[in-house]
Amino acid sequence: MKRFSMMLSMLAIGMASSAAMAEDTSLTNTSLPNATLPNISPANSVLVNRGAYIARAADCMACHGEDYTGGTAIETPMGEIYSTNITPSKRYGIGNYTENDLKNVLQKGRAPSHMLYPAMPYPSYSGMKEEDINALFAYLQTVPVVDEAPKHKTDLPFPFNIRALMLGWNFLNVPSTQGRDGLNETQKRGEYLVNNLEHCGTCHTPRNSTMGFDKKMYLSGAQLGHWYAPNITPDESSGIGSWSEQDIITYLRTGELDQRAYAGGPMGEAVAHSTQYLKQEDLSAIASYLKAVPAIQTDDKVSAIDVSRLPTRVNESITHDLLAQKDYLAQAKTAVSKGSNSPEALYLATCGSCHGVDGYGQPDAQYSPIVGLSSLRRDKPDVLVNMILHGVVGSTNTSPIMPAFSDELSSEQIASIANYVRISFGGLASSDVSAADIERIAATSAEKPFLIKYAGLLAILGIIVAIAVIIFIIRAIIRSKHRH
Ligand code: HEC
Ligand code: HEC
Ligand code: HEC
Repeated sequence: MKRFSMMLSMLAIGMASSAAMAEDTSLTNTSLPNATLPNISPANSVLVNRGAYIARAADCMACHGEDYTGGTAIETPMGEIYSTNITPSKRYGIGNYTENDLKNVLQKGRAPSHMLYPAMPYPSYSGMKEEDINALFAYLQTVPVVDEAPKHKTDLPFPFNIRALMLGWNFLNVPSTQGRDGLNETQKRGEYLVNNLEHCGTCHTPRNSTMGFDKKMYLSGAQLGHWYAPNITPDESSGIGSWSEQDIITYLRTGELDQRAYAGGPMGEAVAHSTQYLKQEDLSAIASYLKAVPAIQTDDKVSAIDVSRLPTRVNESITHDLLAQKDYLAQAKTAVSKGSNSPEALYLATCGSCHGVDGYGQPDAQYSPIVGLSSLRRDKPDVLVNMILHGVVGSTNTSPIMPAFSDELSSEQIASIANYVRISFGGLASSDVSAADIERIAATSAEKPFLIKYAGLLAILGIIVAIAVIIFIIRAIIRSKHRH
């Protein structure tokens, strides 16, 4: 959170000179974004700078890296799929690509020599406009060449290493979304951004048995490893129905909504690499569209925020003075080491050094306030408990990390801390997370047995075999007709 505003102000200073340029390159720009695109330069053509904006809006960097050299692992149930070098290197990158090659990659998941796995979000990019692909292609030619292969290469076990199988998968799952009727122009722009460029659904829409989007549950929330990408439909109780359009804009621009929500983990990355750079009217379009999608109620309800129950800052000097907090924390640590099970002492001893004695964090050290966050107010404590069990990796290289506590704390202690923060900082009237809940959550996030893990893929294989059989039969029929 603070790191985003810090980043923004650093960029503002560093990039002031190119701010005027960014304005020139915008499509229909009326207002200047808070953050200026670092990869837009006055030396480049308007087309290239437009491409740089598309690359940001489509968040290519999230997977291909800040320098586009690839090698990032995308975890899938079949194993890790690594992104590739997409700099214009002729040997290791896409230096030999024609514009049509790029179009086939984005729209069909087809690289010149092989089919791609949908870890590359082509099911979403398939709807990308010609003019945007044209600009993106021009921009990718200007990226510095890196003549290096990514450190890791994808090596999936048989039969998933047969890339041609993706033809069958694509037949069922591409494109991943359909246009909605009755939208105004702004909302249509929002739909294009959400579905095709920003591919929000790759995280927020749950998957069906073939691992494609479950279209009926569009944007209603999905598990992402230890993370949970929440319901962002306008449902009042389980979605973001209580958010105003301005709330959505603020969250996507800064990664936080004061005392309401925080963009941690994968969402923090989406904000850091992509949404913070979007033009004001594009963020407004997204917000307006998210208000127009069907509300879907799920069983993961979020209690409405009750501001009167949130803590007040201990006092300005303590909240902002690390030394003043030290005494409180030291006392709590002594108490816990002497066997105290007081939830407050446990919180202070384990979490207080980063999130502060009052939950308002340590802005100076970039540790986030946790007061009021939606992750504390969910009926299901899973999101919060997973964070405590597994920690949180910061969303940029320089952001601090939250350590994992699964080895350090007992299930009772984690339950006790979870209840403490849900009530004291989340403002809930009560919370009854038990040690059994912690054990259940730890067990579900542990390694799954082979068949369950591969069930989705086995289903795809089943379907592909079925399609092959049908084609075989049709051919046989045609042949037999010819003979007569
Ligand atoms: C969610 C992660 C993700 C995002 C976002 C993403 N990619 Fe990819 N991309 C991948 C992965 C993983 C592969 C390799 C897939 C494979 O091995 O089948 C890939 C492969 C490619 C390839 C094929 C390279 C080759 O010839 O082998 C190109 C080109 C490409 N991406 C361009 C882009 C562009 C341009 C963007 C932004 C518009 C983008 N990618 C966004 C993950 C991503
Ligand atoms: C060493 C510092 C540190 C400690 C100790 C720590 N955290 Fe964190 N915590 C962080 C950081 C850093 C983030 C933000 C990570 C990011 O940028 O995504 C965070 C994020 C969070 C969030 C917000 C997550 C969200 O996205 O909604 C919660 C809730 C949280 N921590 C709870 C706790 C609890 C409970 C404990 C004690 C068991 C704890 N933390 C201990 C550093 C810490
Ligand atoms: C890489 C995966 C990923 C992508 C892409 C992504 N999100 Fe998220 N999103 C998440 C996760 C995970 C969270 C939970 C963050 C947390 O609790 O700290 C989240 C949280 C949110 C929230 C806060 C919800 C709440 O109740 O607190 C909103 C709003 C949101 N995302 C909107 C979007 C929009 C709009 C897009 C596309 C522009 C998008 N997200 C793209 C993973 C993603």
